[in-house]
Amino acid sequence: MWHLLAGFVLLLCAADAAPVGDRTVPDFGKKYHVKGELNLPYSGDSGIKEPFEVWYDLEGNRSRIDYRNSTVRTFLIGNDLDYGVIYQITPLKGTKEDPIRPQAALPDLQGFEFEKMEDYTGVQCEVWKKVTQAGHKKNTYRLWVKRPEGSDSPAVSYHFEMEGFNTLLESYNDKYMIDYSDFSSQTKSDIFTPPGGNWRTHIQ
Ligand SMILES: *[C@@H]1O[C@H](CO)[C@@H](O)[C@H](O)[C@H]1NC(C)=O
Ligand SMILES: *[C@@H]1O[C@H](CO)[C@@H](O)[C@H](O)[C@H]1NC(C)=O
Repeated sequence: MWHLLAGFVLLLCAADAAPVGDRTVPDFGKKYHVKGELNLPYSGDSGIKEPFEVWYDLEGNRSRIDYRNSTVRTFLIGNDLDYGVIYQITPLKGTKEDPIRPQAALPDLQGFEFEKMEDYTGVQCEVWKKVTQAGHKKNTYRLWVKRPEGSDSPAVSYHFEMEGFNTLLESYNDKYMIDYSDFSSQTKSDIFTPPGGNWRTHIQ
């Protein structure tokens, strides 16, 4: 939908202020803000009405278009990077079959076993290991953690590694590593507030 709206806005901006007969063509200036409603009476079962809000700034080389009561926002910034950048905020609703859940950044340690103590970048860490096997594919996962306040205190994660081994070819064929930093158990609650106003009623 924003493509349609962005195209529509381009169309509005394309008019030049050249005289037609004895009148000059209306000019909207180089900067403006406007709200509107796009109406597509033949779309869908009962037509589509799409309210939008636009900010346009020719000299700043940028514009912004919001719709669904500002829950969907598109920023077109011509001066960012070499050829401009589009920033989009688009909320998506979960479904009963596929609800939205938080996503962990650290592995679930079920099935991991303590392997050894090891120095990782100057930090004495516990190394936890898990091996899975599916057909000829054997994966080894290792996590380096430290428990700064004793053995039952919350762990701090430093490093994770996955190594894939093909037992038929006797060779390693897959690997990835993650370095963690700045681990903290504190999260400010406003970090989870998405930008924008009344999200709940407008998310499709
Ligand atoms: C606006 O941005 C476009 C895309 O990055 C760039 O080609 C153009 O030179 C810019 N115009 C101005 C006036 O900065
Ligand atoms: C649109 O958002 C504003 C600001 O959050 C809110 O006050 C208003 O009630 C919303 N409009 C509708 C129709 O939900």
